[in-house]
Amino acid sequence: MVKICCIGAGYVGGPAMAVLALKCPAIEVAVVDVSRPRIDAWNSDRLPVLEPGLDAVVRACRGRNLSISADVDRHVADADIVFVSVNTPTKASGLGEGRAPDLAYWESAARVVAAAAASSRSGAKNTVVVEKSAVPVRTAEAMERILVAHGGCAFEVVSNPEFFAEGTAVRDLLCPDRVLIGGRDTDAGRSAVRALRDVYAHWVPEDRILTTSLWSAELSKVAANAFLAQRVSSVNAISALCEATGADVSDVARAVGGDGRVGGGFLSAGVGFGGPRLQKDVLCLAYACECNGVPEAAEYWRQVVAVNEYQKSRFVRRVVSSMFSTVAGKKVAVLGLAFKKGVGDTRGSPAVDVCRGLLGDGAHVSVYDPMVSEKQARRDTAAAAGKGKGAVHVARDAYEAAQGAHGLCVLTEWDEFRALDYRRVFDGMQRPAFVFDGRNVVDVGKLREIGFVVYAVGKPLDDWLSKSTRN
Ligand code: UDX
Ligand code: ADP
Repeated sequence: MVKICCIGAGYVGGPAMAVLALKCPAIEVAVVDVSRPRIDAWNSDRLPVLEPGLDAVVRACRGRNLSISADVDRHVADADIVFVSVNTPTKASGLGEGRAPDLAYWESAARVVAAAAASSRSGAKNTVVVEKSAVPVRTAEAMERILVAHGGCAFEVVSNPEFFAEGTAVRDLLCPDRVLIGGRDTDAGRSAVRALRDVYAHWVPEDRILTTSLWSAELSKVAANAFLAQRVSSVNAISALCEATGADVSDVARAVGGDGRVGGGFLSAGVGFGGPRLQKDVLCLAYACECNGVPEAAEYWRQVVAVNEYQKSRFVRRVVSSMFSTVAGKKVAVLGLAFKKGVGDTRGSPAVDVCRGLLGDGAHVSVYDPMVSEKQARRDTAAAAGKGKGAVHVARDAYEAAQGAHGLCVLTEWDEFRALDYRRVFDGMQRPAFVFDGRNVVDVGKLREIGFVVYAVGKPLDDWLSKSTRN
């Protein structure tokens, strides 16, 4: 029986291994982690990762061929294939601060693999070490050096980055657009790639399994996220020009995306991209460009992040300047704190940055998100408030959030924000009542008929806004 071990029971490793175990009942899968609370949560009825369908997948194979354990060394030593799926956040200090990925967790995992493999093996068996985490191009070289330095076992490093999106993890894992496997162009490298290919072939059609060199696979992961981020920044840059000229960004995006070479996906203008991965990977790509002697390319990618920052800050400026250039002491409702609909995750959320801006100007922010817990909302807004003069209230629904407010910001595209009774919302608000739609979910015409002053990203401004605000 093939044995697989995954180091890191996080957002990526947990769901990826659960689906692998489900689809390969003849493979024994162990997911290990240094965090005891995480392990306990994976073994309980309240999984640490909330994804539609994940509970059922875990229930079907936990105790059958899926185990989640804190016994890192034993499972790593036993495995034929070891996935490394640990966090690689952007460095908060030191060399490359705010730009380079922090590889400390990755290196500690590499050392665990090296030590466990060296202590338990005669060297007869070839361990396949799989990079699952998004890492800078050529990281596998460092992994190989660490493994060689420990000696004792034969190994082959391959890269197999993960592409699923939050909120659709199980669906994406069951039916991926593609599975990417990169390896060395040697007999041992090809055999390691084949071993992993055979695992995925249990449920992924052969033509969706792409094989490349190690470096191409590593680079493809960060490049894929950078392309997604770049599309959002491109359409957001156009949205600013739309507002200045009276064009409508939805029309422009439809017309541009209608060209099959461009494609229509990922062209929704908004308050900016968020989440734990896109910005991190763009910065990782830019840093790799910088370190490899292509500063012009680094600058290009950094602009993707710069436009995202611009989009968030110009949204805040629009709110403040529309409301007579002061929000101090005014209640502003914030609908949506998650970084996108369908998830309760607020990491890197543009909504949190908008709250930071409003609180800094002294607004009283009343937040509501259908999936973000009150505790999480308090934590995020407290961090965002910093030394600002503003105050925070976490509301139970959108109507409570809007009651008595001067302005209302829509910052996550939840369907329920489309379907609100805006007449009721209007009746409860101060006059003039402002709506700032950062996700293009409201019916602008209908809301203007009710009496709202409406701003929607990339949409023609009404007279009030064009007279009273700067971009
Ligand atoms: C992303 C990638 O999509 C996925 O392939 C990768 O494996 C992990 O990172 P995720 O972070 O879950 O997935 O979110 P995604 O759906 O990509 O959205 C990222 C951000 O972009 C969100 O804040 C979203 O609201 C924003 N976005 C997306 C837009 O503003 N406009 C769009 O058209 C699309
Ligand atoms: P990702 O989103 O990339 O999955 P997470 O932060 O959700 O990142 O999960 C990474 C997991 O990896 C965490 O649960 C962390 O405890 C675990 N981890 C980090 N370093 C090690 C290590 N050396 N050995 C085992 N687990 C580790």
